[in-house]
Amino acid sequence: MEKVLILGAAGQIGTELVNTLRATYGNDQVIAGDLLAANLSEPCIQIDATDEHALRELVTKEGVTVVYQLVAMLSATGEKLPEKAWALNMQALFAVLNLAKDQLIKQVFWPSSIAAFGPNTPTLDSPQMTVMDPTTVYGISKLSGELWCQYYHDKYGVDVRSIRYPGLISWGAEPGGGTTDYAIDIFRSAKKDNAYTCFLAEDTRLPMMHMDDAIRATLELMNAPKEQLSIWTSYNVSGVDFTPFELAEALRKHYPDLAMRYAPDFRQAIASTWPQRIDDSQARLDWGWQPAYDLSDLVQDMVEHV
Ligand SMILES: NC(=O)c1ccc[n+]([C@@H]2O[C@H](COP(=O)([O-])OP(=O)(O)OC[C@H]3O[C@@H](n4cnc5c(N)ncnc54)[C@H](O)[C@@H]3O)[C@@H](O)[C@H]2O)c1
Repeated sequence: MEKVLILGAAGQIGTELVNTLRATYGNDQVIAGDLLAANLSEPCIQIDATDEHALRELVTKEGVTVVYQLVAMLSATGEKLPEKAWALNMQALFAVLNLAKDQLIKQVFWPSSIAAFGPNTPTLDSPQMTVMDPTTVYGISKLSGELWCQYYHDKYGVDVRSIRYPGLISWGAEPGGGTTDYAIDIFRSAKKDNAYTCFLAEDTRLPMMHMDDAIRATLELMNAPKEQLSIWTSYNVSGVDFTPFELAEALRKHYPDLAMRYAPDFRQAIASTWPQRIDDSQARLDWGWQPAYDLSDLVQDMVEHV
């Protein structure tokens, strides 16, 4: 039976992943770890994911076999604190990769992002293997992290698996300072004010995904037989893609009078360097990836739960 540690468990993805993994493995088999541990349910621990020594003690004491390393400073916040973002994102990854290299744990999950692509990446159906020239510190840390994951796999036999998540949409924990957060904020504002001011331009198309699909993709990749996998950097996975205008139109089926304003800020410059849609044929081929939510399912679910 696996014993799982989730680092960054209080965040947007961690909150959902903890629940799903506890339903799968049993409550006591899944430890939730975060620097901000106040809202975590037991078993949980307050821990700094960059503290390799503390992590070593924890995984040894608890017999942890698998670590999901979700700690990172996201794209929009990272542009305000570039050196801190680089230090956090890389140190948190290395700490966990080294546990696996030393065979204290068997398997690692670490998410990359569509932010690892850049302005010279083909924007429509961006291939798995393509030009990657990220312009944000977040994207640079994700691309570097992907290559380090592959290095640890190739050199030390580390089983580290990764997905290039698109913008993730959920109604649980608040989003953590990313460029796609508008696609969550809009639901709360529609409900509260029947109006939303979007920080991206109306025609900014980006790849997105419902959180349920993202969690399912993560578990399917982690459970796939190793010999079926061909990518040890990070897999492209695709869900839906839409513009703020298209999302507002879909939302008007529920809020017909929704008033939209567009006031692009610094996040527009980040979004403009990212793909509009990505090609996930390798993930479909290797481990059978299939998204379940289209735009109308996603909007329906968000309207019901936000
Ligand atoms: N949410 C998305 O749309 C999205 C898209 C692409 C990739 N990702 C990646 O998925 C991962 C999780 O994203 P998220 O949206 O859940 O992030 P988030 O910002 O919501 O959560 C991150 C969590 O890490 C914790 N944390 C920060 N520093 C820590 C430290 N030193 N030690 C322990 N905990 C610390 C924070 O308290 C927070 O709970 C990140 O690696 C992110 O880059 C997310």
